[in-house]
Amino acid sequence: MKATAKAHTNIALIKYWGKRDESLILPMNNSLSLTLDGFYTTTTAEFREDLTADRFHLNDRLVDGTEYQRVTAFLDRIRRAAGRPDVFADIHSTNHVPTAAGFASSASGFAALAAAAAKAIGLQVTDPELSMLTRQGSGSACRSIYGGFVEWEKGTKADGSDSYAVPIAPKDHWDLRVAAVVLSSSEKKILSREGMKRTVETSPFYPAWVDNIPDDLAAIKQGISQKDFEKVGEIAEANCLRMHATTLAASPPFSYWHSTTMAIMQAVQDLRVSGVPAFFTIDAGPNVKVLYLPEQEKIIRNTLQEIPGVHDVTVSRPGEGVSYI
Ligand code: ADP
Ligand code: DP6
Repeated sequence: MKATAKAHTNIALIKYWGKRDESLILPMNNSLSLTLDGFYTTTTAEFREDLTADRFHLNDRLVDGTEYQRVTAFLDRIRRAAGRPDVFADIHSTNHVPTAAGFASSASGFAALAAAAAKAIGLQVTDPELSMLTRQGSGSACRSIYGGFVEWEKGTKADGSDSYAVPIAPKDHWDLRVAAVVLSSSEKKILSREGMKRTVETSPFYPAWVDNIPDDLAAIKQGISQKDFEKVGEIAEANCLRMHATTLAASPPFSYWHSTTMAIMQAVQDLRVSGVPAFFTIDAGPNVKVLYLPEQEKIIRNTLQEIPGVHDVTVSRPGEGVSYI
């Protein structure tokens, strides 16, 4: 009753921001992401008859508190689905990605956990079922089941049975690059979960955010299928700015950006003015991801590394979905 799985993070080009059901993790809007090869989690799950409670080790540290609760609550769902309420698990997970810093550690973390735990407990699931299960650990994680470009269909049913990810284009469809610009790997103050909840409940900009999604989605899917870089980049950058605008109008207002975040955004827009196609996107943290084409590798790296406050630049290509080790 032991299995190991590996899952990559994904970067949302059309963001998931807001839930309609917090317990089942059902989103207000469809989202679309690219799975990244550079950042991943490997997780080993072992269900053992001799354990009286779950144990969760993250990066060789035994975890307790809320992070532990989140994992055991998720394992409860797996136990229920498998009809084995009586067995507990020993979980060992390693994040090859900064934890809780806006690099989607929760996405690779819960996708790897879902895959490893389901296999270890003997639960036979299809990919859509695995995505649905993963969603209940962390929403964005349901997209990491697949490689390449992935859409998470929000679904409309109250039980969440039509809310899961679907692959749009495989990783080999398009050789894009994503530079993850690290300016701070310290854990953020407002987790995505908390930030999106406050926004849904208090931001007057939130309804406008939701209204815009269908147009953005239709256009970006066309851009991806035609490999139209300008189109995809423009939509992704605008969608990111709209998501972050909702937080400024929340009560109390908040922002994930630091001064260096804005310096990077400016540098990317300056690159475009000088004829270098590049676009940024930012999740719920201060770090920035920059989208570009392989031929721009050198100038992008050089420009980003020179910005004061930038600690590191890690380049990813489109990555693959969940695998078992
Ligand atoms: P991030 O930007 O890193 O995804 P989130 O706020 O979305 O930040 O999620 C961070 C949370 O995800 C952590 O506090 C932890 O509860 C959970 N998490 C991170 N890595 C793992 C992992 N490998 N296995 C299980 N849960 C994880
Ligand atoms: C800004 O998936 O971390 O990265 O479902 O509460 O676990 P929970 O939230 P999470 O939120 C991700 C938000 C985002 C946008 C995205 O990845 O689509």
